[in-house]
Amino acid sequence: MSEIKNNTVLSGVQPSGDLHIGNYLGAIKNFVRLQKDYSCFFCIVDLHAITVKQDPKILRKNTLEVAATYIASGIDPKKSVVFNQSSISAHSELAWIFNCVTRMGWLNRMTQFKDKAGKDKENASSGLFIYPNLMAADILIYKATHVPVGNDQKQHLELTRDIAQKFNRDFKCENFFPIPEPIIDNDISRIMSLKDGTQKMSKSDLSENSRISLLDESDEIIKKIKKAKTADTVMPDKIEEILKISEINNLLNIYAGFSEVQKDILIDKYKGQNFSKFKADLSDIIVDQLKPITAEIKKLMQDEGYLLEILLEGQNKASEVAQKTINEVYDIVGLLRNET
Ligand code: ADP
Ligand code: TRP
Repeated sequence: MSEIKNNTVLSGVQPSGDLHIGNYLGAIKNFVRLQKDYSCFFCIVDLHAITVKQDPKILRKNTLEVAATYIASGIDPKKSVVFNQSSISAHSELAWIFNCVTRMGWLNRMTQFKDKAGKDKENASSGLFIYPNLMAADILIYKATHVPVGNDQKQHLELTRDIAQKFNRDFKCENFFPIPEPIIDNDISRIMSLKDGTQKMSKSDLSENSRISLLDESDEIIKKIKKAKTADTVMPDKIEEILKISEINNLLNIYAGFSEVQKDILIDKYKGQNFSKFKADLSDIIVDQLKPITAEIKKLMQDEGYLLEILLEGQNKASEVAQKTINEVYDIVGLLRNET
């Protein structure tokens, strides 16, 4: 594994509401695993959160809550750098330079902007439109080589790769920015709503029953899984049949994600049965794994001083790397900086 050790991981989560099991399985669980072999930066992307309206007091609390969630899930702040994006101004400085590298046509193709801006595009913030440039800056300011994310971020990662390539080419600095690779685990990288298997599980869904929050109590989890949409059939015995019923496929993905038992083994175990035993076992597994995490998040949220200390320690470590990169970039671009 010594070859991997030189590589750098960066990822980020927005402090825009209670995190759910989609964020956990699609992103955070992977972060924990990657700490062993990579040098890791885990960011709380507060500047991305304000691309849509946020209540300042709630934003502050949510930022601490993402920090608490990282740590409660197993991110070790001694091993990995945990910090909030706005504490390192070099992210915004590099993002501005990328605003001048990225082509309008590239941004116009971003589906997340179209989804988030909805029908009222004229009224969306300009920050929401250039959001992927800031994400590219988050990644490239640390010259990250790997980015673990859910499937919804794949297009933004491709744009990041295009930006890195264009910058290296335009400024004739081959290999200055690495071309980062996404780390996306297919089945669990897109956990769907419990109420509608065609919609992504999301913090912004109006229905609480569509998602399982990492702060849900055990009885709420059991209730939500019981209510989750399935089908008026028994568990099919073939994966091809299961893929046709997205709600069942989604519950199987969640089961496999938490238990780390392969889907075909789960199908073998439950095929031909109705869904009550499957759902009971599934909620047992989720409750078992989330209970200690939920308790730890709640405990850490009582100790704001400790969380602030961790963020400051992360800020100091991140700033060293980020400052070096932005100085190099200013030099490459020809921006004069009179060092004192
Ligand atoms: P969101 O507001 O969509 O939850 P975040 O920025 O908080 O967005 O997402 C944090 C991470 O969680 C990202 O890597 C994102 O791809 C991942 N993620 C978000 N929703 C899901 C989902 N339903 N399934 C899997 N991964 C997800
Ligand atoms: N855009 C990501 C999301 O909405 C969050 C994010 C911001 C991110 N910067 C990042 C993810 C850098 C990975 C790397 O989920």
